[in-house]
Amino acid sequence: ARHSSRQAAPRPVATGRRNARLIVQAAGKPKQQMLVYVPPHPLVKHWLAVARNAATPTPIFRSALAELGRILIYEAVREFLPTVDGVIDTPMGPADVTCVDPMRPVKVIPILRAGLVLLEQSATLLPASETYHLGYVRDDETLKATSYLNKLPAQFQPDDLVLIADPMLATGGTMMQALQEIVSRGADPANIRVVAVVAAPPALKLMADAYPGLKVYTAIIDAEVNDKGYIIPGLGDAGDRAFGTI
Ligand code: URA
Repeated sequence: ARHSSRQAAPRPVATGRRNARLIVQAAGKPKQQMLVYVPPHPLVKHWLAVARNAATPTPIFRSALAELGRILIYEAVREFLPTVDGVIDTPMGPADVTCVDPMRPVKVIPILRAGLVLLEQSATLLPASETYHLGYVRDDETLKATSYLNKLPAQFQPDDLVLIADPMLATGGTMMQALQEIVSRGADPANIRVVAVVAAPPALKLMADAYPGLKVYTAIIDAEVNDKGYIIPGLGDAGDRAFGTI
């Protein structure tokens, strides 16, 4: 069979003008639910269409992923970033202002390789951030992810704001390993946002069961993952397409 883990895609539920919102029920924990946001924005749809198209050349694919990263990170930090109020002098006189709290930098964690691309347009978006790289390589046969780079700090504080970037949530193997590393260092899942481009049911299910406090922001939820670990219809290998190594 071409597709081994055929299962119905969770349907995003429109709960307001701003976000389509999907609640993925955690097994055995009826009160806690992982939230998956799919912003119903024409630019999200547009850049996803560009990224999905097999005819899109590498530089355009890469810029589509970077645009999606910027838009989805903008959405992910909407109710996440703490602010401080103050007064500044404009050239015309004093004005009340609200700024992002510089004392609460977002701890951004790209999952290499493709997670780096999601951050390309975001370096200038977050006024205060720190970046900690995590690298995983997936065995094509076993689909098991192995860590080859871990630049995480020894310890997170529970109130640290953590944003993980990985465009493809397929089997969930890589993301679950990353979450385990991050949470075991003290981060609180309720203060973690995951930004992806395409998410699939196997990954969402694993994440919801283990970390019901988590919030996920993605451009689309696709139906299934094939026996090679690729999302169907997905967009192919995001890292290979972004770095021209197909
Ligand atoms: N990683 C990718 O790059 N693509 C998939 O479809 C699944 C995992």
